[in-house]
Amino acid sequence: MRVLVIGSGAREHALCVALQSDPAVTALACAPGNAGTAALAEARPLDVGDPVAVAALAVEWSADLVVVGPEIPLVAGAADAVREAGIACFGPSAQAAQIEGSKAFAKHVMAAAGVPTAQAWPVGGPAELETALDESHAVSGGAPYVVKDDGLAAGKGVLVTTDRAAALAHGTAVLGAGHAVLVEEFLDGPEVSLFALSDGTTVVPLLPAQDAKRRDDGDGGPNTGGMGAYAPLPWAPAGLVDDVLATVLQPTVSEMARRGEPFVGLLYAGLALTSRGVRVVEFNARFGDPETQVVLPLLETPLAGLLYAAATGTLDRQPPLRWRAGAAVTVVVAAPGYPERPRAGDVVTGADGEGVLHAGTRLGPDGVVHSAGGRVLAVTAVGADLAAARQMAYERVAAVRLADAHWRTDIGLAAVEGRITVG
Ligand code: AMP
Ligand code: GLY
Repeated sequence: MRVLVIGSGAREHALCVALQSDPAVTALACAPGNAGTAALAEARPLDVGDPVAVAALAVEWSADLVVVGPEIPLVAGAADAVREAGIACFGPSAQAAQIEGSKAFAKHVMAAAGVPTAQAWPVGGPAELETALDESHAVSGGAPYVVKDDGLAAGKGVLVTTDRAAALAHGTAVLGAGHAVLVEEFLDGPEVSLFALSDGTTVVPLLPAQDAKRRDDGDGGPNTGGMGAYAPLPWAPAGLVDDVLATVLQPTVSEMARRGEPFVGLLYAGLALTSRGVRVVEFNARFGDPETQVVLPLLETPLAGLLYAAATGTLDRQPPLRWRAGAAVTVVVAAPGYPERPRAGDVVTGADGEGVLHAGTRLGPDGVVHSAGGRVLAVTAVGADLAAARQMAYERVAAVRLADAHWRTDIGLAAVEGRITVG
Protein backbone atom coordinates (compact mmCIF):
# COMPACT_ATOMS: atom_id res chain seq x y z
CA MET A 1 0.00 0.00 0.00
CA ARG A 2 1.30 3.46 -0.99
CA VAL A 3 0.45 5.92 1.77
CA LEU A 4 0.59 9.70 1.47
CA VAL A 5 0.50 11.73 4.69
CA ILE A 6 -0.53 15.40 4.46
CA GLY A 7 0.97 17.85 6.95
CA SER A 8 4.25 18.94 8.45
CA GLY A 9 4.12 18.65 12.24
CA ALA A 10 5.19 16.23 14.94
CA ARG A 11 1.83 14.50 14.57
CA GLU A 12 2.69 13.73 10.94
CA HIS A 13 6.17 12.59 11.98
CA ALA A 14 4.57 10.22 14.51
CA LEU A 15 2.15 8.98 11.82
CA CYS A 16 5.08 8.34 9.48
CA VAL A 17 6.97 6.37 12.14
CA ALA A 18 3.93 4.17 12.82
CA LEU A 19 3.06 3.72 9.14
CA GLN A 20 6.61 2.90 8.17
CA SER A 21 6.66 0.02 10.66
CA ASP A 22 3.52 -1.50 9.08
CA PRO A 23 4.70 -4.24 6.66
CA ALA A 24 1.68 -3.50 4.43
CA VAL A 25 3.16 -0.10 3.54
CA THR A 26 5.31 -0.34 0.41
CA ALA A 27 5.90 3.40 -0.06
CA LEU A 28 5.44 6.40 2.18
CA ALA A 29 5.36 10.11 1.36
CA CYS A 30 4.74 13.15 3.55
CA ALA A 31 3.81 16.47 2.01
CA PRO A 32 5.12 18.97 2.65
CA GLY A 33 6.70 17.24 5.68
CA ASN A 34 9.59 18.57 7.74
CA ALA A 35 13.24 17.77 8.36
CA GLY A 36 12.21 14.73 10.45
CA THR A 37 9.67 13.16 8.11
CA ALA A 38 12.11 13.57 5.23
CA ALA A 39 14.26 10.83 6.77
CA LEU A 40 11.35 8.32 6.60
CA ALA A 41 9.09 9.43 3.82
CA GLU A 42 9.43 11.00 0.41
CA ALA A 43 9.03 14.78 0.75
CA ARG A 44 6.85 16.69 -1.71
CA PRO A 45 6.15 20.41 -1.72
CA LEU A 46 2.47 21.13 -1.15
CA ASP A 47 0.10 23.93 -0.25
CA VAL A 48 -1.99 21.91 2.21
CA GLY A 49 -4.78 24.49 2.14
CA ASP A 50 -5.45 23.79 -1.54
CA PRO A 51 -7.67 20.69 -1.96
CA VAL A 52 -7.06 20.56 -5.72
CA ALA A 53 -3.31 20.42 -5.12
CA VAL A 54 -3.71 17.70 -2.47
CA ALA A 55 -5.79 15.52 -4.81
CA ALA A 56 -3.44 16.16 -7.73
CA LEU A 57 -0.47 15.01 -5.67
CA ALA A 58 -2.35 11.89 -4.52
CA VAL A 59 -3.09 10.99 -8.15
CA GLU A 60 0.39 11.83 -9.44
CA TRP A 61 2.07 9.83 -6.64
CA SER A 62 -0.40 6.91 -7.15
CA ALA A 63 -1.42 6.87 -3.49
CA ASP A 64 -3.62 4.02 -2.30
CA LEU A 65 -4.42 5.86 0.92
CA VAL A 66 -4.17 9.53 1.87
CA VAL A 67 -3.99 10.40 5.58
CA VAL A 68 -4.75 14.05 6.26
CA GLY A 69 -3.10 15.29 9.47
CA PRO A 70 -4.14 18.91 10.15
CA GLU A 71 -7.53 20.55 10.33
CA ILE A 72 -6.91 23.27 7.76
CA PRO A 73 -6.90 20.99 4.67
CA LEU A 74 -9.86 19.03 6.07
CA VAL A 75 -12.00 22.12 6.57
CA ALA A 76 -10.95 23.28 3.10
CA GLY A 77 -12.18 20.02 1.52
CA ALA A 78 -8.98 18.02 0.91
CA ALA A 79 -10.63 14.70 1.80
CA ASP A 80 -13.56 15.39 -0.55
CA ALA A 81 -11.16 16.16 -3.40
CA VAL A 82 -9.08 13.02 -2.78
CA ARG A 83 -12.16 10.78 -2.64
CA GLU A 84 -13.54 12.41 -5.83
CA ALA A 85 -10.27 11.39 -7.48
CA GLY A 86 -11.10 7.79 -6.53
CA ILE A 87 -8.49 7.42 -3.79
CA ALA A 88 -9.22 6.23 -0.25
CA CYS A 89 -8.83 9.01 2.29
CA PHE A 90 -8.57 8.92 6.08
CA GLY A 91 -10.13 12.24 6.99
CA PRO A 92 -13.61 13.74 7.12
CA SER A 93 -15.31 15.79 4.41
CA ALA A 94 -15.33 19.57 4.71
CA GLN A 95 -18.91 19.32 5.98
CA ALA A 96 -18.09 16.73 8.63
CA ALA A 97 -14.93 18.62 9.65
CA GLN A 98 -17.21 21.45 10.78
CA ILE A 99 -17.43 19.50 14.02
CA GLU A 100 -14.04 21.11 14.66
CA GLY A 101 -14.27 24.10 12.32
CA SER A 102 -17.35 25.57 13.98
CA LYS A 103 -17.97 25.26 17.68
CA ALA A 104 -21.59 26.32 17.06
CA PHE A 105 -22.05 23.40 14.62
CA ALA A 106 -20.51 21.00 17.14
CA LYS A 107 -22.97 22.24 19.76
CA HIS A 108 -25.90 21.57 17.38
CA VAL A 109 -24.72 18.02 16.72
CA MET A 110 -24.22 17.37 20.43
CA ALA A 111 -27.66 18.75 21.27
CA ALA A 112 -29.28 16.52 18.64
CA ALA A 113 -27.29 13.47 19.77
CA GLY A 114 -27.86 14.07 23.49
CA VAL A 115 -24.11 14.38 24.14
CA PRO A 116 -23.22 16.16 27.40
CA THR A 117 -21.27 19.40 26.96
CA ALA A 118 -20.91 22.88 28.47
CA GLN A 119 -23.89 25.20 28.15
CA ALA A 120 -23.02 27.86 25.58
CA TRP A 121 -24.08 31.37 24.63
CA PRO A 122 -23.39 32.36 21.02
CA VAL A 123 -22.41 36.02 20.74
CA GLY A 124 -22.90 37.78 17.41
CA GLY A 125 -22.05 41.32 18.50
CA PRO A 126 -20.76 43.51 21.35
CA ALA A 127 -24.22 44.10 22.82
CA GLU A 128 -24.72 40.39 23.50
CA LEU A 129 -21.31 39.89 25.06
CA GLU A 130 -22.07 41.46 28.47
CA THR A 131 -25.34 39.55 28.79
CA ALA A 132 -23.64 36.27 27.86
CA LEU A 133 -20.93 36.86 30.48
CA ASP A 134 -23.57 37.60 33.14
CA GLU A 135 -25.65 34.53 32.31
CA SER A 136 -22.68 32.16 32.12
CA HIS A 137 -21.37 33.52 35.41
CA ALA A 138 -24.70 32.76 37.07
CA VAL A 139 -24.82 29.19 35.66
CA SER A 140 -21.19 28.44 36.61
CA GLY A 141 -21.81 29.67 40.15
CA GLY A 142 -19.21 32.40 39.92
CA ALA A 143 -16.51 30.18 38.41
CA PRO A 144 -14.16 31.53 35.72
CA TYR A 145 -15.44 32.98 32.45
CA VAL A 146 -14.82 30.96 29.28
CA VAL A 147 -14.68 33.04 26.10
CA LYS A 148 -13.97 31.34 22.75
CA ASP A 149 -13.29 32.27 19.18
CA ASP A 150 -15.84 30.26 17.19
CA GLY A 151 -13.46 29.14 14.49
CA LEU A 152 -10.17 27.38 13.94
CA ALA A 153 -7.69 28.92 16.35
CA ALA A 154 -5.21 26.06 16.93
CA GLY A 155 -6.16 25.88 20.61
CA LYS A 156 -5.21 29.49 21.16
CA GLY A 157 -8.61 31.18 20.77
CA VAL A 158 -9.89 30.40 24.26
CA LEU A 159 -9.58 32.56 27.35
CA VAL A 160 -10.48 31.09 30.74
CA THR A 161 -10.30 33.79 33.39
CA THR A 162 -11.90 35.10 36.58
CA ASP A 163 -11.12 38.64 35.40
CA ARG A 164 -14.30 40.03 33.87
CA ALA A 165 -12.49 42.91 32.14
CA ALA A 166 -10.10 40.46 30.49
CA ALA A 167 -13.01 38.25 29.39
CA LEU A 168 -14.75 41.28 27.91
CA ALA A 169 -11.57 42.44 26.17
CA HIS A 170 -10.94 38.99 24.63
CA GLY A 171 -14.52 38.72 23.36
CA THR A 172 -14.36 42.22 21.95
CA ALA A 173 -11.06 41.51 20.20
CA VAL A 174 -12.40 38.31 18.61
CA LEU A 175 -15.54 40.12 17.43
CA GLY A 176 -13.35 42.93 16.14
CA ALA A 177 -11.44 40.39 14.04
CA GLY A 178 -14.77 39.49 12.42
CA HIS A 179 -15.24 36.13 14.20
CA ALA A 180 -18.23 34.98 16.21
CA VAL A 181 -17.73 34.42 19.93
CA LEU A 182 -18.99 31.63 22.16
CA VAL A 183 -19.25 32.15 25.92
CA GLU A 184 -19.42 28.91 27.89
CA GLU A 185 -20.20 27.44 31.24
CA PHE A 186 -16.94 26.62 33.09
CA LEU A 187 -16.14 22.89 33.26
CA ASP A 188 -14.11 21.75 36.27
CA GLY A 189 -12.18 18.49 36.58
CA PRO A 190 -9.26 16.92 34.74
CA GLU A 191 -9.21 16.83 30.95
CA VAL A 192 -8.90 13.73 28.80
CA SER A 193 -8.27 13.44 25.08
CA LEU A 194 -9.88 10.35 23.63
CA PHE A 195 -9.34 9.57 19.93
CA ALA A 196 -11.56 7.25 17.94
CA LEU A 197 -11.30 5.86 14.44
CA SER A 198 -14.57 6.12 12.55
CA ASP A 199 -15.59 4.76 9.15
CA GLY A 200 -18.84 6.72 9.26
CA THR A 201 -20.69 3.99 11.17
CA THR A 202 -18.34 1.93 13.32
CA VAL A 203 -16.31 3.64 16.03
CA VAL A 204 -13.07 2.24 17.49
CA PRO A 205 -11.63 4.19 20.44
CA LEU A 206 -7.89 4.43 21.05
CA LEU A 207 -6.14 4.94 24.42
CA PRO A 208 -7.00 8.01 26.50
CA ALA A 209 -4.26 10.62 26.77
CA GLN A 210 -3.80 13.98 28.42
CA ASP A 211 -2.08 16.99 26.94
CA ALA A 212 -0.71 20.05 28.71
CA LYS A 213 -2.28 23.08 27.07
CA ARG A 214 -0.75 25.91 29.08
CA ARG A 215 2.74 27.18 28.35
CA ASP A 216 4.23 26.98 31.85
CA ASP A 217 4.81 24.41 34.58
CA GLY A 218 1.87 24.07 36.94
CA ASP A 219 -0.56 25.05 34.13
CA GLY A 220 0.33 28.73 34.11
CA GLY A 221 0.73 31.10 31.19
CA PRO A 222 -1.26 31.28 27.97
CA ASN A 223 -2.98 28.43 26.14
CA THR A 224 -0.85 26.84 23.43
CA GLY A 225 -1.30 24.17 20.79
CA GLY A 226 -0.03 21.71 23.43
CA MET A 227 3.26 21.53 25.36
CA GLY A 228 3.39 17.80 25.98
CA ALA A 229 1.29 14.72 26.60
CA TYR A 230 1.24 11.30 28.20
CA ALA A 231 -0.74 8.08 27.85
CA PRO A 232 -2.38 6.05 29.20
CA LEU A 233 -3.95 7.75 32.24
CA PRO A 234 -3.29 5.79 35.45
CA TRP A 235 -5.95 7.87 37.25
CA ALA A 236 -8.75 7.36 34.69
CA PRO A 237 -11.87 5.75 36.16
CA ALA A 238 -12.45 2.12 35.16
CA GLY A 239 -14.82 1.93 32.23
CA LEU A 240 -14.09 5.48 31.04
CA VAL A 241 -13.48 4.49 27.42
CA ASP A 242 -16.62 2.33 27.20
CA ASP A 243 -18.63 5.07 28.85
CA VAL A 244 -17.40 7.75 26.43
CA LEU A 245 -17.93 5.42 23.49
CA ALA A 246 -21.55 4.88 24.51
CA THR A 247 -22.43 8.43 25.57
CA VAL A 248 -20.27 10.60 23.30
CA LEU A 249 -18.47 8.97 20.38
CA GLN A 250 -21.08 6.58 18.97
CA PRO A 251 -24.02 9.01 19.33
CA THR A 252 -22.00 11.74 17.59
CA VAL A 253 -20.96 9.51 14.69
CA SER A 254 -24.53 8.22 14.35
CA GLU A 255 -25.93 11.77 14.35
CA MET A 256 -23.47 12.85 11.66
CA ALA A 257 -24.52 9.87 9.52
CA ARG A 258 -28.19 10.70 10.10
CA ARG A 259 -27.50 14.22 8.80
CA GLY A 260 -25.98 12.78 5.64
CA GLU A 261 -22.53 14.03 6.68
CA PRO A 262 -20.83 10.79 7.76
CA PHE A 263 -17.66 11.30 9.78
CA VAL A 264 -14.80 9.27 8.30
CA GLY A 265 -11.46 9.69 10.01
CA LEU A 266 -10.33 10.51 13.51
CA LEU A 267 -12.86 11.90 15.92
CA TYR A 268 -11.05 13.50 18.83
CA ALA A 269 -13.14 14.10 21.93
CA GLY A 270 -11.69 16.66 24.33
CA LEU A 271 -13.39 15.80 27.60
CA ALA A 272 -13.64 17.22 31.10
CA LEU A 273 -14.31 14.72 33.89
CA THR A 274 -16.38 17.11 35.98
CA SER A 275 -18.00 16.61 39.35
CA ARG A 276 -21.28 16.26 37.40
CA GLY A 277 -19.95 13.62 34.99
CA VAL A 278 -18.15 13.55 31.63
CA ARG A 279 -18.60 16.65 29.43
CA VAL A 280 -17.30 17.35 25.95
CA VAL A 281 -15.07 20.42 25.88
CA GLU A 282 -14.57 20.24 22.13
CA PHE A 283 -14.34 17.90 19.18
CA ASN A 284 -11.50 17.85 16.72
CA ALA A 285 -11.68 16.21 13.32
CA ARG A 286 -8.14 14.83 13.26
CA PHE A 287 -5.39 13.27 15.33
CA GLY A 288 -4.46 15.57 18.22
CA ASP A 289 -1.04 17.07 18.55
CA PRO A 290 0.86 16.23 20.81
CA GLU A 291 -1.34 13.32 22.03
CA THR A 292 -0.73 11.35 18.81
CA GLN A 293 2.96 11.25 19.68
CA VAL A 294 2.14 9.18 22.80
CA VAL A 295 -0.84 7.13 21.59
CA LEU A 296 0.68 5.74 18.39
CA PRO A 297 3.92 4.36 19.94
CA LEU A 298 1.74 2.24 22.25
CA LEU A 299 -0.36 0.79 19.42
CA GLU A 300 0.79 -2.66 18.31
CA THR A 301 -1.85 -3.21 15.65
CA PRO A 302 -0.40 -2.10 12.28
CA LEU A 303 -1.67 1.40 11.58
CA ALA A 304 -2.03 1.53 7.80
CA GLY A 305 -4.51 -1.35 7.71
CA LEU A 306 -6.62 0.32 10.38
CA LEU A 307 -6.68 3.70 8.67
CA TYR A 308 -7.47 2.03 5.35
CA ALA A 309 -10.34 0.11 6.98
CA ALA A 310 -11.72 3.38 8.37
CA ALA A 311 -11.37 5.05 4.98
CA THR A 312 -13.18 2.23 3.22
CA GLY A 313 -16.02 1.45 5.63
CA THR A 314 -14.71 -1.85 6.98
CA LEU A 315 -13.76 -1.08 10.59
CA ASP A 316 -16.37 -3.60 11.80
CA ARG A 317 -14.21 -6.40 10.37
CA GLN A 318 -11.06 -5.40 12.29
CA PRO A 319 -9.95 -7.52 15.25
CA PRO A 320 -9.69 -5.70 18.62
CA LEU A 321 -6.75 -3.33 18.87
CA ARG A 322 -3.59 -4.54 20.58
CA TRP A 323 -1.69 -2.19 22.90
CA ARG A 324 1.82 -2.35 24.29
CA ALA A 325 2.13 -2.41 28.09
CA GLY A 326 3.75 0.65 29.65
CA ALA A 327 3.37 4.35 29.05
CA ALA A 328 4.55 7.10 26.74
CA VAL A 329 5.49 10.73 27.37
CA THR A 330 6.19 13.51 24.89
CA VAL A 331 7.71 16.88 25.75
CA VAL A 332 7.41 19.77 23.31
CA VAL A 333 10.52 21.87 22.86
CA ALA A 334 9.24 25.30 21.83
CA ALA A 335 10.93 28.24 20.19
CA PRO A 336 11.56 31.41 22.19
CA GLY A 337 8.46 33.61 22.04
CA TYR A 338 6.00 30.72 21.56
CA PRO A 339 3.00 30.97 21.53
CA GLU A 340 2.80 34.72 20.87
CA ARG A 341 5.74 35.45 18.58
CA PRO A 342 7.93 32.42 18.04
CA ARG A 343 11.36 33.06 16.63
CA ALA A 344 12.34 30.88 13.66
CA GLY A 345 15.57 30.18 11.85
CA ASP A 346 17.72 28.94 14.74
CA VAL A 347 20.01 25.92 14.42
CA VAL A 348 18.74 22.75 16.13
CA THR A 349 21.21 20.05 17.12
CA GLY A 350 20.50 16.56 18.39
CA ALA A 351 17.28 16.51 16.38
CA ASP A 352 18.12 13.08 14.95
CA GLY A 353 18.15 11.51 18.42
CA GLU A 354 15.97 8.55 19.34
CA GLY A 355 12.35 9.53 20.00
CA VAL A 356 12.82 13.05 18.68
CA LEU A 357 9.87 13.94 16.50
CA HIS A 358 10.07 17.08 14.42
CA ALA A 359 7.30 19.67 14.65
CA GLY A 360 8.47 22.97 13.19
CA THR A 361 11.77 22.25 11.45
CA ARG A 362 13.22 22.49 8.01
CA LEU A 363 16.50 21.41 6.50
CA GLY A 364 18.77 24.29 5.56
CA PRO A 365 20.73 24.16 2.29
CA ASP A 366 23.73 23.07 4.38
CA GLY A 367 21.81 20.00 5.57
CA VAL A 368 21.52 21.56 9.04
CA VAL A 369 18.16 21.45 10.85
CA HIS A 370 16.63 24.87 11.56
CA SER A 371 13.62 25.85 13.63
CA ALA A 372 10.65 26.82 11.48
CA GLY A 373 7.71 27.03 13.85
CA GLY A 374 6.60 27.64 17.43
CA ARG A 375 6.66 24.04 18.50
CA VAL A 376 9.98 22.80 17.17
CA LEU A 377 10.40 19.23 18.48
CA ALA A 378 8.27 16.71 20.37
CA VAL A 379 10.66 14.51 22.31
CA THR A 380 9.05 11.17 23.05
CA ALA A 381 9.83 8.06 25.06
CA VAL A 382 8.06 4.81 25.95
CA GLY A 383 8.78 3.21 29.30
CA ALA A 384 7.61 0.41 31.57
CA ASP A 385 5.50 2.95 33.44
CA LEU A 386 4.82 6.65 33.39
CA ALA A 387 7.72 7.52 35.70
CA ALA A 388 10.17 5.61 33.50
CA ALA A 389 8.80 7.13 30.30
CA ARG A 390 9.07 10.61 31.85
CA GLN A 391 12.63 10.09 32.91
CA MET A 392 13.71 8.88 29.50
CA ALA A 393 11.84 11.65 27.67
CA TYR A 394 13.60 14.32 29.74
CA GLU A 395 16.99 12.65 29.23
CA ARG A 396 16.32 12.92 25.52
CA VAL A 397 15.27 16.57 25.83
CA ALA A 398 18.58 17.28 27.53
CA ALA A 399 20.38 15.99 24.44
CA VAL A 400 18.83 18.49 22.02
CA ARG A 401 20.01 22.08 21.59
CA LEU A 402 18.01 25.07 20.42
CA ALA A 403 18.99 28.56 21.58
CA ASP A 404 16.57 30.03 24.15
CA ALA A 405 14.16 27.10 23.79
CA HIS A 406 11.60 26.46 26.48
CA TRP A 407 9.69 23.38 27.56
CA ARG A 408 7.62 22.24 30.50
CA THR A 409 9.40 20.12 33.06
CA ASP A 410 6.22 18.65 34.57
CA ILE A 411 4.62 16.64 31.77
CA GLY A 412 2.92 13.64 33.41
CA LEU A 413 4.26 14.60 36.83
CA ALA A 414 0.93 15.18 38.58
CA ALA A 415 -0.19 11.73 37.38
CA VAL A 416 3.01 10.05 38.61
CA GLU A 417 2.58 11.74 41.99
CA GLY A 418 -1.08 10.72 42.22
CA ARG A 419 -2.26 14.33 42.35
CA ILE A 420 -5.05 13.99 39.76
CA THR A 421 -8.46 13.20 41.14
CA VAL A 422 -11.80 12.82 39.44
CA GLY A 423 -14.68 14.53 41.23
P1 AMP B 1 -10.84 24.51 22.96
O1 AMP B 1 -10.21 25.42 21.94
O2 AMP B 1 -12.31 24.55 22.97
O3 AMP B 1 -10.25 23.18 22.86
O4 AMP B 1 -10.32 24.97 24.39
C1 AMP B 1 -8.95 24.95 24.74
C2 AMP B 1 -8.80 24.72 26.23
O5 AMP B 1 -9.48 25.72 26.98
C3 AMP B 1 -9.43 23.43 26.69
O6 AMP B 1 -8.62 22.33 26.51
C4 AMP B 1 -9.65 23.73 28.17
O7 AMP B 1 -8.44 23.61 28.88
C5 AMP B 1 -10.06 25.15 28.16
N1 AMP B 1 -11.52 25.22 28.07
C6 AMP B 1 -12.27 25.28 26.96
N2 AMP B 1 -13.58 25.29 27.25
C7 AMP B 1 -13.69 25.25 28.59
C8 AMP B 1 -14.79 25.24 29.52
N3 AMP B 1 -16.06 25.33 29.09
N4 AMP B 1 -14.51 25.16 30.83
C9 AMP B 1 -13.23 25.11 31.27
N5 AMP B 1 -12.15 25.11 30.47
C10 AMP B 1 -12.36 25.18 29.13
N1 GLY C 1 -3.87 18.66 21.61
C1 GLY C 1 -4.73 19.67 21.16
C2 GLY C 1 -5.06 19.61 19.74
O1 GLY C 1 -4.57 18.80 18.99
O2 GLY C 1 -5.87 20.41 19.32
